[in-house]
Amino acid sequence: MEKDHRSTPFYTKLLEYAYSNTTPLDVPGHKLGALHNDMMDVAGEMMFKLDANAPRGLDNLNRPTGVIKEAAELMADAFGAEKAYFLTGGTTMGILAMIMSVCRAKEKVILPRNVHKSAINALILSGAVPIFVAPYLDHELGIANHMDYKEVEKAILENPDAKAVFVINPTYFGVASDLKGIVDLAHEKDMMVIVDEAHGSHLPFSPLLPQSSMEAGADMSSCSLHKTVGSLTQSSILITQGPRVDHIRLRSTINMIQSTSPSSLLLASLDVARKTIYFEGPKQMPHLIEMAHQTREKINQIHGLKAVGTSYFMKNKAYDYDETKIIVKVSDLGITGFDVYKELFDEHHIQLELAETHLILAVLSIGTKQSDLDHLVEALKVVSEKYSAMQLSPLQPKIKYTYPEAYTRPREAYHAPKKYVPLNQAVDEIAAESIMIYPPGIPIVIPGEIVSQDILDDLDFYQQQGSVILSDTEGGYIKIIDKEYWMKWEDDEDL
Ligand SMILES: Cc1ncc(COP(=O)(O)O)c(C=O)c1O
Repeated sequence: MEKDHRSTPFYTKLLEYAYSNTTPLDVPGHKLGALHNDMMDVAGEMMFKLDANAPRGLDNLNRPTGVIKEAAELMADAFGAEKAYFLTGGTTMGILAMIMSVCRAKEKVILPRNVHKSAINALILSGAVPIFVAPYLDHELGIANHMDYKEVEKAILENPDAKAVFVINPTYFGVASDLKGIVDLAHEKDMMVIVDEAHGSHLPFSPLLPQSSMEAGADMSSCSLHKTVGSLTQSSILITQGPRVDHIRLRSTINMIQSTSPSSLLLASLDVARKTIYFEGPKQMPHLIEMAHQTREKINQIHGLKAVGTSYFMKNKAYDYDETKIIVKVSDLGITGFDVYKELFDEHHIQLELAETHLILAVLSIGTKQSDLDHLVEALKVVSEKYSAMQLSPLQPKIKYTYPEAYTRPREAYHAPKKYVPLNQAVDEIAAESIMIYPPGIPIVIPGEIVSQDILDDLDFYQQQGSVILSDTEGGYIKIIDKEYWMKWEDDEDL
């Protein structure tokens, strides 16, 4: 039966409750706005009235049978999925749930090396064995991007026992891999395909965008509706289709990591965002894509700046490109993306999504106005004039990457005894933490991998280049496995 996407079952019931004047002898402690605070003066009492915990009639996210179930069915229908789960912990939580429910300890999962850190954390929690695929390294922009089909094919054929292939659709930079090709091959080899669609929630709503996970036939995907579709920050969904999904295991994994007090504001925002994107997405996306296209053309007329789009990425082995992203290479002016990011905020009140050494990234949605893009173009003209006058030498993008050798699984490394040593004393030791470098956005090492001299040289190279380094340990130290004590833990080998 056709679904009525004008209805918003959870939001409607929540609104009914907010207006019902019910005496709140339950949590939350703000008592539906009766306990005054500063935020209420600005956000309004209604926001607190809508922040209900679990009153009768509002269903239970852990095992929905009422309005959450109805809202989730509408969500699944809108995304072309069979089933949808609402998440209040972002796609971070979706990725944990997907990998943990698909891979048991010691089972293999094929994934790109430039995964979000939640995927590395999922390896620790599940005990899975990662088989990394090298992402495409874009030497002009200095970033790691999508996966080339051939690389994934090689990993699948070399690891016929892998349980799943994990794909990012699209990458942070908007580039899509050949997801349908990957799904077809993986399914032929009896592997599941799970998708990080944090940046792709809008894909199902226009044929002008890359194929969505469900259209490509993937088994599971997690989408950050808060990023590009307009729900509140932290609200995401996990969608599924097909016979390979074990819903009992998936549901219990989600419940393991979901709060038992999920925010009704987040859940309602998913419900209403679904309605908006369902009706407005197909109507407004062509206009948004045209605005983005015109903006790129205007930016390309500014001295020293290069806005890259579909033709650039297709030349760089992309399968498809999401044109709602605006990427501008700024380093030909002799300055970094980090400099421009700061300058646009400080001097022009523009908040960009991301900066890398060589580029800046603006993320658009159907909420983006023409005036926002005009503001960006005008601000970039000012930046270009200022730095062109200085006649700085263009920065030369360089990527250097050594793939580490794995010694043990991330989970074992996480549980092993550890010690801290200065980086220069870590050669041939086993890392017990992840060290991430942005750009190019690939972990230098993850827990369980051997720290070689080449890896330390790479780290030094990126430090010199001004990349952002993220790790647990700072100040020139690294957390490694304390091998002397580790042997005592051998009994736990099967964890
Ligand atoms: C590629 C990718 N995957 C997953 C996530 C996590 O999504 P969320 O912020 O919804 O938890 C992000 C967040 O930026 C991301 O960039």
